[in-house]
Amino acid sequence: METEVKLTKLASCAGCGAKVGAGTLSRLLEGFQSHSDPRLIVGYDKSDDASVYVLDEHSALVQTTDFFPPIVDDPFLYGSIAAANALSDVYAMGGEPKLALNILCVTEKMDAHTVQEILRGGYAKAYEAGAIITGGHTIQGAEPIYGLAVSGFVHPKRVLTNSGAQPGDVLLLTKPLGVGILTTAHKAGLAEKTVMQRIYDQMAALNRSARDVMVRFSAHSCTDVTGFALLGHSYEMAQGSGVTIHITVGTVPFHPEALELAEMGLIPAGAYRNRSFAEAGISVQSGISRAMQDILYDPQTSGGLLFALPESEGEACLRALRDAGVTAAAVGYVTEPGENEIILEK
Ligand code: CO
Ligand code: CO
Ligand code: CO
Repeated sequence: METEVKLTKLASCAGCGAKVGAGTLSRLLEGFQSHSDPRLIVGYDKSDDASVYVLDEHSALVQTTDFFPPIVDDPFLYGSIAAANALSDVYAMGGEPKLALNILCVTEKMDAHTVQEILRGGYAKAYEAGAIITGGHTIQGAEPIYGLAVSGFVHPKRVLTNSGAQPGDVLLLTKPLGVGILTTAHKAGLAEKTVMQRIYDQMAALNRSARDVMVRFSAHSCTDVTGFALLGHSYEMAQGSGVTIHITVGTVPFHPEALELAEMGLIPAGAYRNRSFAEAGISVQSGISRAMQDILYDPQTSGGLLFALPESEGEACLRALRDAGVTAAAVGYVTEPGENEIILEK
């Protein structure tokens, strides 16, 4: 049976682009009384990818949740992407996902087959990650939503927060940018099928291999690049770590079609939100085009890992990532804190 209703037509925002801006989020959380527990080593006050709670000297529990409205019309693919994106926050802490719960909102217009395919996509991705979906919760609402609440484990001494970057580190990124611009353009019929297939494959790809390579090296800090874009997430890493992050714009991997669209002014709303969140802390050297900056502010759905490790290990880590089939590049480096959190260099 053909599905008559296009999933993305039921959604008002696409993927991680639906994420509430970082600025809005921190205002909403302002003044919250947070209970402390010495075992809670990463909590929500840190704006990190997941919370981490120490169980014993060998293991800590990593918990996170992520969900969003449909970013593609194929329900199985939507389920796979949403699951890969949710699982990614455990990888971003250096952990391994083990258990997950479905979070699902269905609308009256969705038929049973569509809903089943979304769930099947999620199960397949969780299985690939070595995690088990043990249950979940489903409600009816105005817009479809799907995602997971994920629990994983990490050694308490090997937790990778987004605030551990050190002067002398290099920054590696494991997926190219431009996903937000291209999915937005596709909604308007402005992106080719073959390009979109490349984007879909990338979004559905787990960050598992990238994480498995990363933990073999002495990474100091990690996050995944999602709704806040490369610059928003780098800004949080620079602030949290008390360092300055230099982004070497010429080495940042991106989909060339996204730059063409950015040059035409086709930018998702989330990119503007990200710009207004991070702009004050960013100094831009001359010769970096507005369109290229838009790529760096482009919200990613299920983006790659961004991690900092000693410069001396950078080359070997890049090689190991490529051997593992991960597209990765060195995109910057870390210095002592200066006037700006981030410096964009050519
Ligand atoms: Co994240
Ligand atoms: Co997240
Ligand atoms: Co992390």
